[in-house]
Amino acid sequence: MKDNLITVGLDIGTTKITTVIGEIAADGSVDIIGEGTVPSEGIKRGAVVNLERTTAAIRNSVAAAERVSGVKVTNAYVSVAGNHAKALTSHGLAAIRRSQEITVSDVERSIENARAVPLDPNFEVIHAIPQEYVVDGQEGIKSPVGMHGVRLEVDVHIVAGSVGPLANLRRCVQEAGLQVRGLVLESLASGTAVLDASERDQTVVVIDMGGGTTDVGVFKRGNLSHSACIPIGGDHVTTDLAQILKIPLEEAENVKRKYGAALPELADPDLMLEITNASGSTHAISAFDLSRIIKPRIAEIYGMVRDEIDRELGPVELIASGVVLTGGGSLLRGVSELARERFRLPVRVGRPRGMGGLTDIVAGPVHAAAVGLVLYAAQEQMHPVGTAAQAQPANGSGSPYVRPAPTPIEYDLTPPPVDETPTPTPKPAPTPKPPRAPRNPDEKTLVDKVKDFFKDWI
Ligand SMILES: Nc1ncnc2c1ncn2[C@@H]1O[C@H](COP(=O)(O)OP(=O)(O)OP(=O)(O)O)[C@@H](O)[C@H]1O
Ligand SMILES: [Mg+2]
Repeated sequence: MKDNLITVGLDIGTTKITTVIGEIAADGSVDIIGEGTVPSEGIKRGAVVNLERTTAAIRNSVAAAERVSGVKVTNAYVSVAGNHAKALTSHGLAAIRRSQEITVSDVERSIENARAVPLDPNFEVIHAIPQEYVVDGQEGIKSPVGMHGVRLEVDVHIVAGSVGPLANLRRCVQEAGLQVRGLVLESLASGTAVLDASERDQTVVVIDMGGGTTDVGVFKRGNLSHSACIPIGGDHVTTDLAQILKIPLEEAENVKRKYGAALPELADPDLMLEITNASGSTHAISAFDLSRIIKPRIAEIYGMVRDEIDRELGPVELIASGVVLTGGGSLLRGVSELARERFRLPVRVGRPRGMGGLTDIVAGPVHAAAVGLVLYAAQEQMHPVGTAAQAQPANGSGSPYVRPAPTPIEYDLTPPPVDETPTPTPKPAPTPKPPRAPRNPDEKTLVDKVKDFFKDWI
């Protein structure tokens, strides 16, 4: 215990605020020793809109985690939703003196050079994440320290947050009595918790389906290489249900969780629900029809994720080998099946892994970001930038510093049901898009897309 470090993750979400306390042993393994979750107050779409209420909710969440762990919390790593952040990739270069080995300071210099991009003064850099290094033209190097060469290059994924919302976030945490040890993008935190070792060798899309936002992270060989935020989450489904069924939000939330599905075919075919609206009149709706209201919203979110990746990186089914859904929204029945249909990739629901201690309490996808903050902090504290250990997977087998994943990863590969039923559109989508061409990898449309994508390069 003497040498162990206490690290705290504070996930300030739109629907809940979670504090997770982790204990990092000298070998880098992480035990979860405290957890506290309270309903979120004063947050809208991942941003603080009421300082006092947010501060009070943070205080309650921290106090609950302190009670479980018996530890007094003084600082925390804090999640940042991506809706007021922007991301870009920048190239950095460092010259190495002849016949000298590349050092950590050379690596840092190459990253610093990449960071020196002109940024809007209203933005501050949250992350500068080095991708693979290039030494004298040799690509694909994860750990250049100790190598020989005269020219070190690196692509750096830069995430910058809007100064105002970040200042509000820091202020609430400080008013609640904690120092902000670090700010971490939500998609990076979630990916750190849910990806396993094999996924860290590939390109995988992590989609954190929260209440107010859907945070997207593309992880290429373990590094966050692209990030985006869709300003819609599971709460929009609830709001739709409340409006259409004329019931209070809390009741709509219950109905969604208990009977809803993202694919009507997965709803109970025989179930009829009696709904009593605000004026006292009662009407019946089948679970199938309920899910026909839900499906377009989830499909819309996936469409926006797809558009973002297609536009920035190329057709998602070509650049990625799988999709991992996490966050509370991933608990809705049928979200994996619908995602598989829309992305044409293997899809699974990601739960936190790679830690010990109170694993049962933080086992669900709603805890991905909070646990990820602790695991991210553990990595940051254990390994300096550009060293071999940095290239290790954050969890799963083969990692020298965290426990192996307890259960093998299982993608859900059964073919999705064919949905021939026209779905009603309860209200116009906020960002209407032209209809999409069918996405079958064998069809010509995709080939054309690939040609388009590479047309500037050949
Ligand atoms: N069992 C469930 N079935 C369906 N939806 C669920 C379930 N549990 C939670 N949700 C939905 O998940 C959402 C909350 O997810 P989460 O706790 O990850 O959000 P958050 O982190 O507070 O928000 P954000 O990340 O957007 O700021 C809500 O929209 C809620 O309705
Ligand atoms: Mg969240």
